[in-house]
Amino acid sequence: MAATLRNRLAYERDRIGFLRECQQKYGDVFRFSDKATVVLDPNLIHQLFVHTNDEVGIEGRLIGGAQPRVETAGRMAARKGARRTMSPNAFSAYEPRMIDLLRETLAETGGREVDVREVMKTFTGRSMTDYCLGTSDPDLADALTDAVAVSEVFMGSSLTLPTWLPTPKVRRLHRANARLRSTLADRIATRRQSPRNEAADLLDALLAEDLDPEEVTAMVEAILRASYGQPGVTLTWAVSTLARRPDLTRRLAAETEDYAEAFVEELLRMYPPTWLMGREVWERTTVGDIEVYPGEQVMFCTYLVHRDPRWWDDPDTFDPERWRTSVPPHARYAYFPFGAGPRICPGNHIDFRQLTLAVRTLAREYDIEVHNSSAPMVANALLVPAGLRGRFIGRISNRPGSGTGDPTAPQDRSSRLSTPLRWRIPR
Ligand code: HEM
Repeated sequence: MAATLRNRLAYERDRIGFLRECQQKYGDVFRFSDKATVVLDPNLIHQLFVHTNDEVGIEGRLIGGAQPRVETAGRMAARKGARRTMSPNAFSAYEPRMIDLLRETLAETGGREVDVREVMKTFTGRSMTDYCLGTSDPDLADALTDAVAVSEVFMGSSLTLPTWLPTPKVRRLHRANARLRSTLADRIATRRQSPRNEAADLLDALLAEDLDPEEVTAMVEAILRASYGQPGVTLTWAVSTLARRPDLTRRLAAETEDYAEAFVEELLRMYPPTWLMGREVWERTTVGDIEVYPGEQVMFCTYLVHRDPRWWDDPDTFDPERWRTSVPPHARYAYFPFGAGPRICPGNHIDFRQLTLAVRTLAREYDIEVHNSSAPMVANALLVPAGLRGRFIGRISNRPGSGTGDPTAPQDRSSRLSTPLRWRIPR
């Protein structure tokens, strides 16, 4: 018990450092506490991904996180319903509007110094709400911002109080979650009452399936929360990297989209926003040499695997070139920023597009000034460059009517956002 508490305190002081130290002492699989095991071997992690939904599950409370319990079968059905909207093909029609939303969000900063993560979160949250629900809805955006901020406080510590304790912090969490769910449930009920002929966005697609209404709300909520957090953090890492490496900014601006893709792969390797993932054990099983029992947790640290010199050459160097070869730049299963297996991130393809186009636009159209580009890396709920501040100064004047089919080509900013657009999902 005393050892468990000592471990937790050491972990709280420096999470990644503590896990790395344990790995050096005990190897790739070790007990973190009497209820949690840490796995850092890519093959064993892959097995856990593959056996998710049978031997291990996502549903349940993970260490340091307060996750709502969602029923697996319902979640899998909702994932299926969402699949078409989440395809790159469906997203391509939306890309020009998404880039306009980035430009608009940056224009709103007025060239002032801003909290980069806040701005990037605003952009990614806005664009995904717009894409998935066909609207930039201020009430919903506000409810979402609040719910995400309050949950991050909880997920930021592995020593947080249980969510049934009626402390002010816990009550705030319940209030924020309830507000988000009821705002979403309202929007969903309104759409249900006036169905449209053709599935035009995620909500239409989900309502067309025979799903439990709560499951629809839970899926939309999961998507909105995810689209707000991880992509916003990844773009914050992009800004800090571009500020430190003008050579990469120049290459991104000059090269084709392939280079931006390699840049994003490398960002997600060096700074995986979901730096720690976990599973709840459902069936008694073994992980390496350790036996684990139902109700226990198994955690895996994406960050440490992505930075392990056994699986990567020169892992602490940011080098997009490593992705531009014909062979994978890593040992098998050693790269998983979006997870893997049946519960792989359903937003992975469209988000990869979002990140690729956004970093290219940032490099081509903006001078970015960052005063603290060495902002400390903090591993709480997500891996973030804490407190990064910067200014975005538009470099390219508007060229009305320069629609070239390339969404990152400079556009007339008044063109797309003044009228709500209804994009169609290609059949
Ligand atoms: C940088 C961007 C993103 C990263 C790195 C990321 C990563 C992840 C990871 C690691 C998981 C857990 C997978 C597992 O446990 O096996 C996950 C789940 C999820 N992600 Fe993402 N994600 C990103 C963006 C998005 C976006 C844009 C969306 C929606 C449009 C999204 C929707 C979801 C949902 C709904 C889940 C839960 C799936 C389930 O419960 O089955 N994610 N994501």
